[in-house]
Amino acid sequence: MEKYGPRENIKIAHISDIHVGSNHFVSNLLNRAVFEINEMEPDVVLVSGDLTNEGFRQQYSAASAYLENIDCERISVIPGNHDSRNVGYVHFEDIFGSRNSALYLPGITMVALDSSQPDLNEGRLGRQNYRWMVDRFVNPNDFKIVALHHHLLPLPGTGRERNIIEDAGDFLELLVGQGVDLVLSGHKHVPHTWRFEDFFISNAGTVSSLRVRGYAKPCYNIVEITPDTCSVKRKYPFGETVDVVTFPVNREKHPHNLEGHPDRLVK
Ligand SMILES: [Fe+2]
Ligand SMILES: [Fe+2]
Repeated sequence: MEKYGPRENIKIAHISDIHVGSNHFVSNLLNRAVFEINEMEPDVVLVSGDLTNEGFRQQYSAASAYLENIDCERISVIPGNHDSRNVGYVHFEDIFGSRNSALYLPGITMVALDSSQPDLNEGRLGRQNYRWMVDRFVNPNDFKIVALHHHLLPLPGTGRERNIIEDAGDFLELLVGQGVDLVLSGHKHVPHTWRFEDFFISNAGTVSSLRVRGYAKPCYNIVEITPDTCSVKRKYPFGETVDVVTFPVNREKHPHNLEGHPDRLVK
């Protein structure tokens, strides 16, 4: 049987919620994070939304200029709710291209999806994106990563919870059915990782905004995947690295086939 997952070590730097244009944006934090990321030479950099504060063209230009300092050939960028304000998604598409994207490395598929809606803070994926994602998972032996800006599960420490995507239930079921291994998100500036069924949902904090809750500090995540394990670490710009979770890479997940499952009420 073909080996499941990556054949070699893969490192992903996951930054989120840059918020260029906000009063709380600190360029020094972002520049430092970019410097640290360049030092660690990741294979992929994921930027999971809210690059801007209001979606204005000049904010996009500034965010893009910061990201151009990242020395990595694979940079995956998706919009957040702030980026879709004021018809900001047109600037997103001009600068970063498609709002959905897929990236393939040996033994790894990463699909990044736009969960934002014009001028709304609430996130939603919608069934057309389900099909788009499923069509990108061409190799069943690949370690599967899905990235989206909004939350799929409520997070502690975010105040009144209203931040999961509107179709979170349907999408979670799809992820279980597809055997997805890891979900990467951002949005409420709260770093947190949940285990759900047999995969992990890892939320990055904000990398460069002081708009944080409680004792949270600006930070970003580093995901390291080896042929045997996947680990998520949290890194504070100028500061320490904290181990968050390590889990085995394997295909022994259940139930891949949800057809006939007693909970499957909707056909
Ligand atoms: Fe944000
Ligand atoms: Fe957000």
